[in-house]
Amino acid sequence: MNLKLPLFILATATFLSAAVAAPAAPTITVHADQPGAKINPAMWGIFFEDINFGADGGLYAELVKNRGFEFPEPLMGWTKISPSKAQGEMSVREDVPFNAHNPHYVRLQSAGTAPFGLSNEGFRGMGVRQGEAYDFSAQVRAVDGAAILRVQLFGGDGALLDSVDLKNFSGDWQKVAATLHPKDTDAKARLVVLLEGKGMVDLDFISLFPENTWKHRPGGLRADMVQTLADLHPGFMRFPGGCIVEGSVLKYRYQWKKTLGPVADRELLFNRWNNEFLHRPTPDYYQSFGLGFFEFFQLCDDIGAQPLPILNCGMACQFNSSELCAIEDLQPYIQDALDLIEFANGAPSTVWGAKRAALGHPAPFNLKMLGVGNEQWGQQYIDRYAKFAAAIKAKYPDVQLVSAAGPEPADDRFKLAWSKLRELHADLIDEHCYAKPEWFYANTHRYDSYDRTGPKVFMGEYAAQSDYTVSVKNRNNLECALAEAAYLTGLERNADVVRMASYAPLFANTEAWQWTPDLIWVDSLNVKLTPNYYVQQLFSCNRGDAVLPVAIAGLENASSLYASAVLDDPAGEVILKVVNPGSAARDVNIKLAGVSLAGSSAKVITLSGGNLSDVNTMGQPGKVVPVESNLGIANAAVTHNFPPRSVTVLRVKK
Ligand code: AHR
Repeated sequence: MNLKLPLFILATATFLSAAVAAPAAPTITVHADQPGAKINPAMWGIFFEDINFGADGGLYAELVKNRGFEFPEPLMGWTKISPSKAQGEMSVREDVPFNAHNPHYVRLQSAGTAPFGLSNEGFRGMGVRQGEAYDFSAQVRAVDGAAILRVQLFGGDGALLDSVDLKNFSGDWQKVAATLHPKDTDAKARLVVLLEGKGMVDLDFISLFPENTWKHRPGGLRADMVQTLADLHPGFMRFPGGCIVEGSVLKYRYQWKKTLGPVADRELLFNRWNNEFLHRPTPDYYQSFGLGFFEFFQLCDDIGAQPLPILNCGMACQFNSSELCAIEDLQPYIQDALDLIEFANGAPSTVWGAKRAALGHPAPFNLKMLGVGNEQWGQQYIDRYAKFAAAIKAKYPDVQLVSAAGPEPADDRFKLAWSKLRELHADLIDEHCYAKPEWFYANTHRYDSYDRTGPKVFMGEYAAQSDYTVSVKNRNNLECALAEAAYLTGLERNADVVRMASYAPLFANTEAWQWTPDLIWVDSLNVKLTPNYYVQQLFSCNRGDAVLPVAIAGLENASSLYASAVLDDPAGEVILKVVNPGSAARDVNIKLAGVSLAGSSAKVITLSGGNLSDVNTMGQPGKVVPVESNLGIANAAVTHNFPPRSVTVLRVKK
């Protein structure tokens, strides 16, 4: 291990006791004329997993839950509507389905005495907005009679929001469509489909989408949620997980090839977060794969993020079954990886490149990185990784492989992984850490002493926990956000060895989450950004190109100020990030060695709050938000007052 410390380790922080009155202002010196390591343009990214209703019930804008009646309880999410005068029957059938991958459908038979049918509750209610259009569609087959299909939206209070009639159905399966315009906004709307008149019809794949999806793609993604990702300007997106890649058992693992093409061809799969936590059961959590691998790549394209898919490496979740695919049977898994690279990058003349082109994207997706396994550990992982790496590097030597270091940042599993992966000349090792804020403060210098010659670090999952990991009491509060910011200054100072980082998890539905804290919270209509989100944004939107050495002098104790600095060459700016976690404001002298400051100015962006326990809520989403101001600089040095409990970004014009 190389113990020669780089110059920027001088950026040691010191703690200021609250009891000490009016200490002399410390000085932060940024060596603006000594740009060091180049910062990876993909340094700050995002990690998406279908946890907490992240995809179904979240990013994927489908409003109907269990649209294909494929949940093990085929009518979960659905309620029979049978007014007292109605005489009808509803049954779930499988004979002659419209799609063999989604074999179940519903048959409605009505005597015509009153409308009879079924209603869908959505994902904890359907969010609909007045003035917006909603596309209804369904597969319908007339079996008997000439009944009318009445499609209606009702508000949570039972008020009718809109109604459309459809008729003249074929005796063969046929897609029918209509547009609904709710007359009110409602967070808890439901969809009702009724048979009016005497008759019998078969119904399947009953769907309702807002027209206002991201980029107005039919059947697309929730625009407001994607916008929150775009606003982070993420350098990469890791997807689709997380533990869902592994599955609790191998048959529940994520298989990317099954997520392509017409959505009705994509087989529903159990979501391992469905019953993972007894204290947060989510029995209606399944993966429709409406957000599949093509859509993930497309999303990366849209938001300018490098795609980082993670594939199962023949291991089911080691917190669950630990089921293994025998080494001698691993070839199909490896082939999936090779095919994925061809799907992403191959010419349309190749087998998998042709499939991508047929889906509407003849240009390559420029895949540069691939993850082998998620959060695996032990020799069994090393053995499987070695097989994957040999096959992938033989065919695609330029693809960077991300390998796993287990679930903890320093235990024996972690140490074994690092030593073995180093021997295997791994490219990037994915470190995970969910820990108390104290851990993040204590580890701001973690990477100062990392060996610069071995594999690089991908801090793929981290989040400060206000209570403890998987506690339902964890909050996305200012205390955690500040600790993460302090830690990120350490990552930034070591950007030569830490090449990428992402917070986890990304999304949570306020009514259907399994894991907290989470970066972005949503309900059926709104999004709420956390202090932690703003910390991510402050780093990703102020990334810079090269690390600048920083020294802090004049602090009494360790851990009162944390700082890092970078050069944004094209903008001609020095970017200084300072975290003041203390309860007192601090005057700090700032010196930019090597450049003249006189007559310059700085943009100052500050995230702070009155209490460490401050959180943003749906009712008060702007409690902890960044605030911008300008700082005129008259002399060669400048003194800035850093508020208590703050993260500050100063962009100084050189
Ligand atoms: O982010 C939540 C989970 O934490 C991920 O699925 C897994 O990789 C880790 O254990």
